[in-house]
Amino acid sequence: NNVSLREQNIVLIGFMGAGKTTIGKAVARKLYRDFIDIDEEIEKQFNMPTSQIFQVFGEKTFREKEKEIIQDFCKNQRLKIISLGGGAFLQEEIKETCLANSIVFYLSLSWESWKERISMIIDNRPVLQGKNYEEMKELFEKRQPIYEEHHSKVTTDNQNVEEIADYIVSSLK
Ligand code: S3P
Repeated sequence: NNVSLREQNIVLIGFMGAGKTTIGKAVARKLYRDFIDIDEEIEKQFNMPTSQIFQVFGEKTFREKEKEIIQDFCKNQRLKIISLGGGAFLQEEIKETCLANSIVFYLSLSWESWKERISMIIDNRPVLQGKNYEEMKELFEKRQPIYEEHHSKVTTDNQNVEEIADYIVSSLK
């Protein structure tokens, strides 16, 4: 593509609750760049929280809007820090666009760390709704391979937000 490396968007991927939004905001602050949260953009368009979008319109509609918004941002924006929803890379077209136009960081964490944070994660996550631990772990494991296409993998276990954000910033130089 014709976007110079310095101007490329930075895209954060990973499972729900991996810290994409929190870390994305910290990276944006450190680089003096704008932060975009795709879930928030989708919620703005429907004017309702994600769980309600799933309830009222269904997951398919959510995924279509997700694709439309990501394609738009990834193709038409520069110098942004963009956090995707944890299911975005299930869509091949999203994956292709992001990998071609942006620098994709995969925020990975262990099931153990994730499990400790479950109570903070569960809210407004329709995909987790009604699942027990075992079913969540199944989804967690099933999702891991979809994030394996990235430009850089960052393991977030035992690191705080500042450290992770600093690592991402330094790896751009
Ligand atoms: C989803 C993850 C969510 C949100 C939606 C579906 C998923 O984003 O897009 O609830 O399928 O993994 P976060 O990863 O920001 O929670």
